[in-house]
Amino acid sequence: MIIAIDGPAGSGKSTVAKIVAGKLHFRYIDTGSMYRAVAWKSLLKNVDLSDEETVAEIARNVKIDLVPEEGGQSVFVDGENATNQLKQETISRAAAVVAAQPMIRKIMTKKQRELGNREDVVMDGRDIGTVVFPNAEKKFFLDAEPKERGRRRFDELKTKNQEADVDLVTIVEQVKQRDHEDRTRKIAPLRQADDAISIDTTHLDISQVVDQIMKEIGRVLHR
Ligand code: C5P
Repeated sequence: MIIAIDGPAGSGKSTVAKIVAGKLHFRYIDTGSMYRAVAWKSLLKNVDLSDEETVAEIARNVKIDLVPEEGGQSVFVDGENATNQLKQETISRAAAVVAAQPMIRKIMTKKQRELGNREDVVMDGRDIGTVVFPNAEKKFFLDAEPKERGRRRFDELKTKNQEADVDLVTIVEQVKQRDHEDRTRKIAPLRQADDAISIDTTHLDISQVVDQIMKEIGRVLHR
């Protein structure tokens, strides 16, 4: 069974997807961290991100392990725990750049399909319900007002690193900019699937969103 949860940055999808996966005893697959891993590895190797052939070679060969743990998930890239590095804003930007390249998307989509065909998953991203698993049993599209999404991202960065040199206005702008890029790219843009259930999380807390999603999934499970 595939549960697809798509939406822009800060919509709450990864927090919610993690909890939903835990409740269902499904595997949680965070596809954003897969694009982030490719971007991180490319930058480490000083590869020009617009060099699609070389980035694709990295995407093909990189080993990404998503390891569930209490209250979250660790991401190992070629055996190295890169969880914290992958969250950095420079990597968010770089991930959006590599994610717009057709060769990279083809490779990552294939990897994601392999993961989803192996076991029951809750998979979050931008194109899960539209491209990766258009036949997913249940699809959700989470969104929230840009200001609120920026605030969440700001809080997340501050919680991870009190010393982080970030300000709210800049983060809101960065989140808006990345969304614009994700929504307007030619291939697999961020878009709500026609059959996805949309949830505006602006004024909802995490448990309210989880409850709504669990209720909808319950309908499929008990059919
Ligand atoms: O979800 P997250 O913010 O970690 O994703 C980082 C970037 O990776 C997104 O801004 C987007 O450009 C890209 N991405 C994507 N397709 C996905 C998941 C992430 O294009 N399924």
